[in-house]
Amino acid sequence: MRLIGYLCLLFVIQCLTVEARYPFIERGAAPGAAPPAAAGPASALNTAPTVSASANASQTNATQSAAPNNVNPFVGKPTSASFSNDIPPAYLTWKKPIPNQTFPPLYKIGVSNITFEWTVDPQILKVQPVNITVALANPQKQTFTAAVVPGTATSANWDLARLAPGSPLMVGYYTVWVYDQRGPKAFPSPGWLMPDARLVVAMYSTEAYVGRTDSMFCPTCYLGSASSLRESFFPLAAAFGVALCTSIIMIFSLLQ
Ligand SMILES: *[C@@H]1O[C@H](CO)[C@@H](O)[C@H](O)[C@H]1NC(C)=O
Ligand SMILES: *[C@@H]1O[C@H](CO)[C@@H](O)[C@H](O)[C@H]1NC(C)=O
Ligand SMILES: *[C@@H]1O[C@H](CO)[C@@H](O)[C@H](O)[C@H]1NC(C)=O
Ligand SMILES: *[C@@H]1O[C@H](CO)[C@@H](O)[C@H](O)[C@H]1NC(C)=O
Ligand SMILES: *[C@@H]1O[C@H](CO)[C@@H](O)[C@H](O)[C@H]1NC(C)=O
Repeated sequence: MRLIGYLCLLFVIQCLTVEARYPFIERGAAPGAAPPAAAGPASALNTAPTVSASANASQTNATQSAAPNNVNPFVGKPTSASFSNDIPPAYLTWKKPIPNQTFPPLYKIGVSNITFEWTVDPQILKVQPVNITVALANPQKQTFTAAVVPGTATSANWDLARLAPGSPLMVGYYTVWVYDQRGPKAFPSPGWLMPDARLVVAMYSTEAYVGRTDSMFCPTCYLGSASSLRESFFPLAAAFGVALCTSIIMIFSLLQ
């Protein structure tokens, strides 16, 4: 009887230790939470006709390097063509901002003027896009088209100070989609630009952080979600542990 009570106590202590060890467990999860919208190309990759092409693409990823400076990798190519599967799809390389899973680039709603810059490996890209769309999707599945640029453009701009009225940006993580005229769900085709959703950016609001530091750093973006996890989940776990112990002790005392 004593032993069981002691074991239960140990279990509860274990729960609390886990909490102490990973107080910011949510920090890593939050940027990852944005890409549910990114399921599009991932599921497209799983369809039969494209599996071989994407497998080859992953084998040759090391050879897809950034273009040398001042060379536009898009020019001098046809806007439509078909290639055999031994050519991988071309994927975009971000030059600005640099994707960072742990600390996504931060932008202030209503203030920031975001510049997106990308390139592709000119050896891999065989088809010039007709046009390129840069769109941002948030976890609420709202999509904002930041820019539609010509197919040879290697940058786009989105001025958050000049947003169309009536479509307010929400605070949170946004997946940045870049795709050609075929749209975000296009199959990866050999030599064509593959839809890209690997960049996640964080938007924060000026109004919500009035009186705090005016730098681009946004500590509460992380602390807010971390503390909400801690406050909601761990007391629950601890309470559950205590309840479990109580039940076990009661059952044993009934049996004796
Ligand atoms: C592809 O990229 C991954 C991660 O960047 C790397 O670990 C792997 O070695 C690369 N594949 C090849 C064939 O270089
Ligand atoms: C993948 O690439 C290899 C050469 O790198 C090629 O021999 C093979 O046929 C390709 N696979 C498919 C399914 O195209
Ligand atoms: C992400 O950003 C942090 C903080 O600026 C930096 O220390 C880290 O090296 C970055 N990681 C990558 C992969 O760039
Ligand atoms: C935003 O940045 C772009 C590119 O740097 C520039 O052309 C544009 O004028 C800027 N907009 C404002 C309002 O500063
Ligand atoms: C992009 O190009 C496609 C194909 O020509 C066209 O249908 C589409 O309207 C273009 N998109 C924009 C926003 O101009």
